[in-house]
Amino acid sequence: MMDFLTLFVIYVIVVLTCIFLVCKYSGQQQTPFSVLFNCLVKVVSPFTPTCLQTFTQWCLHRLFHQRNNMFIYLHILLEGVVYAEFSYEVFGFCRDMDTTLSSLSVPYILLVIKNCFFYLCVKRDPGTVTKKKVAGQLQIYPYDRRLFHPGVSCPTCQLIKPARSKHCRLCDRCVQRFDHHCVWVNNCIGAQNTRYFLLYLCSVCAMAGDMAVLTGDMLLHAVLRSGLLAASYIDEFGQQQPAGFMFVVQHLFLTFPRIIFMLGFLVFVFFLLAGYALFHSYLALVNQTSNEWYKSRGYFCQHCHPTTTADHLCNPAPDHSKRYYYSRGILPNLGEIFFPLKSVQKKDI
Ligand SMILES: *[C@@H]1O[C@H](CO)[C@@H](O)[C@H](O)[C@H]1NC(C)=O
Ligand SMILES: [Zn+2]
Ligand SMILES: [Zn+2]
Repeated sequence: MMDFLTLFVIYVIVVLTCIFLVCKYSGQQQTPFSVLFNCLVKVVSPFTPTCLQTFTQWCLHRLFHQRNNMFIYLHILLEGVVYAEFSYEVFGFCRDMDTTLSSLSVPYILLVIKNCFFYLCVKRDPGTVTKKKVAGQLQIYPYDRRLFHPGVSCPTCQLIKPARSKHCRLCDRCVQRFDHHCVWVNNCIGAQNTRYFLLYLCSVCAMAGDMAVLTGDMLLHAVLRSGLLAASYIDEFGQQQPAGFMFVVQHLFLTFPRIIFMLGFLVFVFFLLAGYALFHSYLALVNQTSNEWYKSRGYFCQHCHPTTTADHLCNPAPDHSKRYYYSRGILPNLGEIFFPLKSVQKKDI
């Protein structure tokens, strides 16, 4: 069946491209995907002309090493396509199958909620270290002398780095309680917007999960209604064979190709972001930032470059036994995420 195969191949390619895009550029620098990507670049580069290489490098640089709104547009585009498809096809089918209007309106309500958090993530200042505020920001967290050392100043900003801060190369500023730079919101995630980021992740998960359940329910009803499960067909030897599971899948693919695409994408987004949201919730619960998590895992250390020889001991060595070093309990940790500590300007009396 040619039609089915073509559709299926396109489907797999689209889904893999999305997986690749989201994983590589979801804000973490050291994912297995980026390692894979770098290997791929090394293998391919001898066979491509230099001008093409330069151009690709320029594009990649523009996209991923400078602030730009590309991913925000991509985000809006993907969301628009999914919601258009949902409203255009799934909504009608669901109405035919007696799904209540109130459960069909949940995705739209979630969309509004999600976009509020998204907007706050994009627009809120993550906690930039500025000349004016640095004195107060220095007092918020004590230096642990393990990952953060007193008296270190940022060579670019020319300001003393508060504990838990990091310089973001894309935004070219130091950010207090730096977590990571997220290209999807084109902003750093820091002290003042980690809460919105967490809520944003949760609402995207809820959105994708809810739409996937509604769509899956609709497809299930469609299959049951068509009576395909009980159907049979005549094979090449003239024997009657019951239509199996694969037959139903093929039928669905050919009858609702766009809906199947959308469902695949939704399921993928759901699992990816659920994993991501769990990871960030875990970090929030133990009072760590992703930056600190990476550092304490020894992925990169402030003092030694990853390429230095093994006998070079970095001082102090990353201590793996004390991962929860800073945690003072779940509730205080969460409190600090949702009510970030303000810099206390000590007033002279
Ligand atoms: C979180 O960790 C910092 C040190 O990195 C510490 O100063 C702060 O008190 C901790 N907060 C809680 C609620 O444990
Ligand atoms: Zn800086
Ligand atoms: Zn940034």
